[in-house]
Amino acid sequence: MDAAQAKAYKPEDAFFSYKQRDAIIYALGVGCAVKDDLKFLYESHEDFQVLPTYVVAPGLLANSITDCPGIEFELAKILHGEQYIEVYAPLPTEADLRTELRVVDVLDKGSGALILSNLTTFDKNSGKKLCMQQFGTFQVGSGKFGGAKTCPEEKKCVPIPERAPDAVLEQATSVDQAVLYRMGSGDLNPLHVDPMFAKMSGFKTPILHGLCTMGFSTRHVLKTFANNDVSKFKAIKVRFSSPVIPGQTLVTEMWQEGNRIHFQTKVKETGKIVVSNGHMDLTDVVFRKPEVNATPTVQLKSDPIFSQIAQELPKQKGIVQKVRGIVVYDLTKNGKHAAYYTLDLKNGNGSVYQGEPKDGAKANATVIIDDDDFVKLSAGEINSAKAYMTGRIKIKGSAMMLQKLQGLMGGLRKSKM
Ligand SMILES: *[C@@H]1O[C@H](CO)[C@@H](O)[C@H](O)[C@H]1NC(C)=O
Ligand SMILES: *[C@@H]1O[C@H](CO)[C@@H](O)[C@H](O)[C@H]1NC(C)=O
Ligand SMILES: *[C@@H]1O[C@H](CO)[C@@H](O)[C@H](O)[C@H]1NC(C)=O
Repeated sequence: MDAAQAKAYKPEDAFFSYKQRDAIIYALGVGCAVKDDLKFLYESHEDFQVLPTYVVAPGLLANSITDCPGIEFELAKILHGEQYIEVYAPLPTEADLRTELRVVDVLDKGSGALILSNLTTFDKNSGKKLCMQQFGTFQVGSGKFGGAKTCPEEKKCVPIPERAPDAVLEQATSVDQAVLYRMGSGDLNPLHVDPMFAKMSGFKTPILHGLCTMGFSTRHVLKTFANNDVSKFKAIKVRFSSPVIPGQTLVTEMWQEGNRIHFQTKVKETGKIVVSNGHMDLTDVVFRKPEVNATPTVQLKSDPIFSQIAQELPKQKGIVQKVRGIVVYDLTKNGKHAAYYTLDLKNGNGSVYQGEPKDGAKANATVIIDDDDFVKLSAGEINSAKAYMTGRIKIKGSAMMLQKLQGLMGGLRKSKM
């Protein structure tokens, strides 16, 4: 990798034309549905609009870092790291576009190289500047070439507030989401569809495009804070912190700070954060409380432990047959209820998620425990029997059943060592 050489690269501009149907296929790819989003799906709708994040399609086409001198590009090692988008005018419903690429820098992140590129898009006919975006493309294993670690032109993420979110919206992706998104966005990287290629890249199965997840997050924020009006959209920045498997459910947690909406998106099934420290800037905010009653999630010290339990569950074969029940953890902070976690070992392979049991199922046992204590307990730093005797942990329901969980907790400690 040679950052100086890459920065000097001035390729020819890339041209991209789209029609209404192209924008609609993109909208389907990022989860638009007839019920709430008809204006993005029906070209004769009185308020037909193109989602602002559709600019990633011309952006990607123009992002010819594959041919850039100074960059030794390896497709099988490429992951989307970060994305920034700033729009100056809503996208026309059809357009001919011209996009300019400049490599901002190639950063040396140790474990890999982060290629930062600016893509500026103009309406080809009027010459009007429509948007600029900064792609952060991460090439695994290509670090340690002696490059800079940071760069002043890098658009940065901002940490999310520490309080509970103001709104939460969740939406399931389809198992075919990545296939549809490929068609809508033009991002044909086989990582998202070809099982063999995914294995070669170190994944068990094809993963969803980071930019597809970003499309879902964007829609969730627009729906909640901008009355689904894309003309209020100014800018977005996201970091992709973990992959999503098509079929998983995305949960977007949002915080309003003036015209800036901070957000993060998690996978409901694992609790893992997949879009971290995101924010969207709007021209003005119209707050609409989500109708979809997603369980508000709270940041807890115990969150990573529950993620580990989710990973440990499949290894504990037979645990469901052994336990056959549901445990609810009522986690407290300073003596006040903070969040529930459900460990469902009643059916199937078992599952763990934040919130109370789904579909009105009842807990066989409820464990009331402080967030800090749960961390200590799972690290083996406090003795559960003693904590129970002294009232530090309270149990409602079947204590017998909880005994059967010892194996799971033990397995967790072993896997951490
Ligand atoms: C890339 O975009 C950023 C943000 O707009 C800007 O500060 C920077 O000067 C741009 N760099 C290049 C090389 O275009
Ligand atoms: C848990 O409760 C359900 C009813 O809600 C019951 O069918 C099941 O047997 C209980 N499991 C245990 C281990 O007590
Ligand atoms: C349980 O896990 C097995 C293999 O790990 C998988 O084939 C099966 O579909 C899973 N069942 C459910 C209900 O998720």
